[in-house]
Amino acid sequence: MQGGTAMLDNTGTETETLLDVSNIEVIYNSVILVLKGVSLKVPKGGITALLGGNGAGKTTTLKAISNLLHSERGAVTKGTITYRGERVQELSPEALVKRGVIQVMEGRHCFEHLTIEENLMTGAYTRGDGKGAVSADLEMVYNYFPRLRERRKSQAGYTSGGEQQMCAIGRALMSRPETILLDEPSMGLAPQLVEEIFGIVKDLNEREGVSFLLAEQNTNVALRFAHHGYILESGRVVMEGPAAELRENPDVKEFYLGVSDEGRKSFRDVRSYRRRKRWLA
Ligand SMILES: Nc1ncnc2c1ncn2[C@@H]1O[C@H](COP(=O)(O)OP(=O)(O)OP(=O)(O)O)[C@@H](O)[C@H]1O
Ligand SMILES: [Mg+2]
Repeated sequence: MQGGTAMLDNTGTETETLLDVSNIEVIYNSVILVLKGVSLKVPKGGITALLGGNGAGKTTTLKAISNLLHSERGAVTKGTITYRGERVQELSPEALVKRGVIQVMEGRHCFEHLTIEENLMTGAYTRGDGKGAVSADLEMVYNYFPRLRERRKSQAGYTSGGEQQMCAIGRALMSRPETILLDEPSMGLAPQLVEEIFGIVKDLNEREGVSFLLAEQNTNVALRFAHHGYILESGRVVMEGPAAELRENPDVKEFYLGVSDEGRKSFRDVRSYRRRKRWLA
């Protein structure tokens, strides 16, 4: 697909598609088929959620986009990934950062032995626009994350999980990204901190115009902050739509938002259950 493709946002307004993932297949170790034809679009200025349980393929999708699969012996074997109409599958992660796309890895990877501020500064390494612009952005990051300003001289390894997640997002911001691929920001954090971090993501989206593709198991929080959502199960998109619609969808409510005694079921279980019911009826 070419650049400038239009899609409709929640209000029916046409928006530009930045990232277009079309029918990708990913195989690990030449044999394990993990993504079985995943398609999704990330519009400019939106927060797009990629939802699904353990092992659904969220991280694999993000890594396929940012070309981080090679180190895991994974490869995209079918389909296309374009950013602003340009095929980006053969680009290095650094080249993609230069085009404005950066990934914040699952598990908030900070350099433990560096201070918070040194960590943030490593995010600016691909930039060539001078010290003044970089220090203005450092100030911007500290304004969004006041906790990081307080801890700026602390060794990252000794800061809390929430602070490390903030540091990982802050470091990504230092590359001046247009799009951030954010993997599981809620992981292991207390609900109040999760709210705080999602609130900042929303502010960054609205005030700085950063677009997000957000992988989350925490459907409830993600659908409150995102504009559009895709639900992945076993490497396939089983449902997609505006976040407000997904929140009201009875199946999503039951299987992703509700807390049932049996834990989370999958859409596939529902479908086979329905088939069984029809058959019995
Ligand atoms: N390097 C790898 N080699 C082989 N299989 C892998 C590798 N990485 C992931 N997988 C498998 O691919 C599937 C999808 O994993 P992935 O990490 O993408 O899921 P996820 O949706 O991010 O899950 P989680 O919410 O637990 O992070 C899983 O079955 C996983 O075991
Ligand atoms: Mg994951």
